[in-house]
Amino acid sequence: MKICKTKQELQEAIAERKNQNQSVSIGFVPTMGALHEGHLTLMRQAKQENDIVVCSIFVNPIQFNNKEDLAKYPRQIEQDIAQIDTICDICFTPTEQEMYPTAPQESYNFGSLETVMEGAMRPGHFNGVCIVVKRLFDLVQPDKAYFGEKDFQQLAIIRRMVQELNLPISICPVKIVRAEDGLALSSRNKRLSPQARALAPFIFQTLSQAKEKSTDMAPKQLEMWIARQFETQKAFSLEYAYVVDANTLQCIDKYEDAQSVIICIAVWLDNVRLIDNMFIK
Ligand code: PAF
Repeated sequence: MKICKTKQELQEAIAERKNQNQSVSIGFVPTMGALHEGHLTLMRQAKQENDIVVCSIFVNPIQFNNKEDLAKYPRQIEQDIAQIDTICDICFTPTEQEMYPTAPQESYNFGSLETVMEGAMRPGHFNGVCIVVKRLFDLVQPDKAYFGEKDFQQLAIIRRMVQELNLPISICPVKIVRAEDGLALSSRNKRLSPQARALAPFIFQTLSQAKEKSTDMAPKQLEMWIARQFETQKAFSLEYAYVVDANTLQCIDKYEDAQSVIICIAVWLDNVRLIDNMFIK
């Protein structure tokens, strides 16, 4: 795997591949590092579906609305590189100065898609995500880009960005990868104490039970039921639990109002913010 620290190195490495084979297909996996099996699943899928795989490892400061969260975000670049050496062909590891030589000015607005859930709780977050992803897309010019369904709202917003900007890139969603006990894999899980990690599967258990209950509870009732489950667990503080239309991300009154329905939740445990989701229709 070739490691490129600058935009120029990255573009040269990609141009070299294109010189060897003009029709080379490129699969791209953007990450913020602290890689786990979820990321590796994205990369393996990219490898199966493309001639070469490019990934990026960049903790994007402008998508953090909370300085403490940015400072605590796990960083383990050497370990990351060792894990992906045989999967990816090119890994882009820019510095902040390289990505943002001057303060970024782009502004993205996807209306009601981003004013709910993560967008409502983390002002500016999705603008920061879109700025970095668009810049990375411009540099890599991938045929396909891979995003995990755990960040379901991010996936919806990136899809919308690609559609609105007419970018010739297929966005490929990849199912959530879970630990054996059901916890959705996330770089943030590394920050949980062993005690909190032992409690964390409660999130998946509650989502699974909620899915069963959806046969006899309306969406709003189900949201209240989830909130009550978390009230019984002192270690957790639920930020939101919404039953939404998976296409519009808006809350629904009846399951029949949407083709596809998903429960999305954000919860604090041990001072760590975790998100998860589950399709119920
Ligand atoms: O999902 C992530 O890890 C980040 O939001 C992304 C897409 C790499 C942009 O920084």
